Amino acid sequence: MASHPARVMHRVRTVAALRKALATARAKGRTIAFVPTMGAIHEGHLSLVRRARRAADIVVASIFVNPLQFGPTEDFARYPRPVHDDRAKFAAAGVDLLWEPAIAEIYPSGDRTRVRVDGLTNGLEGAARPGHFEGVTTVVMRLLHAVEPHVLWLGQKDAQQATVLERMCRDLLVPVRVKRGATVREKDGLAMSSRNVYLGREERAQAVALWLGLRAARVKLAAGERSAARVIAAVRGVWERYPLVREDYIAVVDAGTMEPLRTVRGRVLVAVAARVGPARLIDNLEWSGR
Ligand code: PAJ
Repeated sequence: MASHPARVMHRVRTVAALRKALATARAKGRTIAFVPTMGAIHEGHLSLVRRARRAADIVVASIFVNPLQFGPTEDFARYPRPVHDDRAKFAAAGVDLLWEPAIAEIYPSGDRTRVRVDGLTNGLEGAARPGHFEGVTTVVMRLLHAVEPHVLWLGQKDAQQATVLERMCRDLLVPVRVKRGATVREKDGLAMSSRNVYLGREERAQAVALWLGLRAARVKLAAGERSAARVIAAVRGVWERYPLVREDYIAVVDAGTMEPLRTVRGRVLVAVAARVGPARLIDNLEWSGR
């Protein structure tokens, strides 16, 4: 693993300090890449930092557990916050500037403004978590205004989120290039997630079903299957062998519009969500057929 001992990672909390820290670099024409996160940093986050590092002069990361994107019965209060480990991991991966804003910095008192992207947010995570994407777009728009990066790095792990944020940046004329990094997985295939720490031993073992189901879908697609229902059935067939995995949804959607498909065509996403013990996990597979 490449580390950057010669670099010093600076930390700031306020928008004012963030802007000040970036002003000189910006004036010198340095390119700025930005990796927003909610912390509990793992290799998925760090892969985005490393990709960003290769193509930009300055890498900014943020840690902000955004209350607005959690539903009232969700895990905002217990979301993991291992700040000291997070800082060490970011520093070793080559982050130049870490922004850790307080809630009032992002949501000043009296705040009345929200950002909403229509259509793309209706299905999948949008249907399962009402208000979630409005929370995501509202916070990311604010983070972008504060950082004003040239490049925004997002993970394919949250494919619908990335699609929604790409649309938001285009629609609101945000002068940023949005890039995606591939999903980073554990050895057995489980997608890395800050929420994996919620899993008990047996739950962790069975959580691999999400990936095994997607692999079964890929085998079908590669063999020429074009019926969405049969692709979904292939995933469900795998999940049936894992009693601790409770289906939330298994869907085949158009990867651009997020609309459900009956027939696989063009660039599609097989998107899955399941509850495994106390955790709600998501994963997806992108497939380009014709
Ligand atoms: P968080 O879940 O912390 O994820 C931060 C970024 O890391 C997102 O772009 C996400 O897609 C990416 N990521 C997570 N797990 C990954 C994995 N296994 N492989 C590759 N990339 C991965 O997503 C959020 O935070 C928030 O919604 C945020 C965008 C920060 C807004 O609050």
